[in-house]
Amino acid sequence: MIVTAKELFEQAYGKYALGAYNINNAEQTMGLFQGCLDSKAPFIIQISSGARKYTNKLMLEGMIRAADQIFPDAIFAVHLDHGDEQTCYDCIDSGFYSSVMIDASHESFEENIAATKRVADRAHAKGISVEAELGQLGGVEEHVSVSEDQAHLTDPAQAADFIKRSGCDSLACAIGTSHGAFKFSGSQGLHFEIVKAIQELVPGFPLVLHGSSSVPQEEVERINAAGGALKGAKGVDVTQYLPAALLGVCKINIDTDGRLVWTRVHREFFRDQPDKFDFRPVGKIFMEEYAKFIASRNVLLGSAGQLETVRAALKK
Ligand code: G3H
Ligand code: 13P
Ligand code: ZN
Repeated sequence: MIVTAKELFEQAYGKYALGAYNINNAEQTMGLFQGCLDSKAPFIIQISSGARKYTNKLMLEGMIRAADQIFPDAIFAVHLDHGDEQTCYDCIDSGFYSSVMIDASHESFEENIAATKRVADRAHAKGISVEAELGQLGGVEEHVSVSEDQAHLTDPAQAADFIKRSGCDSLACAIGTSHGAFKFSGSQGLHFEIVKAIQELVPGFPLVLHGSSSVPQEEVERINAAGGALKGAKGVDVTQYLPAALLGVCKINIDTDGRLVWTRVHREFFRDQPDKFDFRPVGKIFMEEYAKFIASRNVLLGSAGQLETVRAALKK
């Protein structure tokens, strides 16, 4: 069942965070749904602009509709990840997405508010939730590249002003994470004081953490042992997920970790069986491994076991 991100946040706020997982293909989609049902967790499917172009945006839609039928107990939001204004409108008009992210964080403060407000007005008229971003994470997104020294942490007073004027339903804030597999060169410093300060100014408002993959060292070691070359890859400490959730972070974005699971499974499979070329046996292993990974993340986020509570609340 597709619901809005806002409906999920109302249930989760201050207790747990929804896992927001990106999908690009059928195997990821199957693994994601299976993992969320195995762990009895509501979740958010994220579709990036890159994903929409990879095969075809209609292919993603078709896969998600099919997964909804294959797994009728699933409760999830369909969310555009890091959209520009035009892509947001395309998703809003499609009638399929229940949530969009307008990422105008690279624009001036005033233009970010103006773009978010335009999108929020159009999205809300159709009952669709809107995520915005203030501050800049390090790393690479499809349309923006921000180096670590250019990345700006979110200013709490600006965030409160932004939330009041832009009409967004949730806000992604930069607290020291970054996209990709190389998040920290030294020790990690997540700035939870920013989350706390925003909550004091705007109590009850759902916040979002991007760049939250944990880059499991075991995955990195296995990838490297099977021919990979990921030196110095490092991610967010998973023990930080729940404390963030208790402070009002309702959505935690995890994409890179899924790519690492894919890479480990495929590298090991073809290293150990160089005579094989049927992609289905390895695809099956990936779906199972990805489902296990997703279930493990939902446990850490606190969303595991919440599915029936959410279903009951949605019926009221
Ligand atoms: O924030 C970026 C997400 O991990 C999506 O990545 O733009 O390569 O699909 P992508
Ligand atoms: P990771 O690169 O840490 O998985 O972050 C994903 C993300 O923020 C998607 O918007
Ligand atoms: Zn992101």
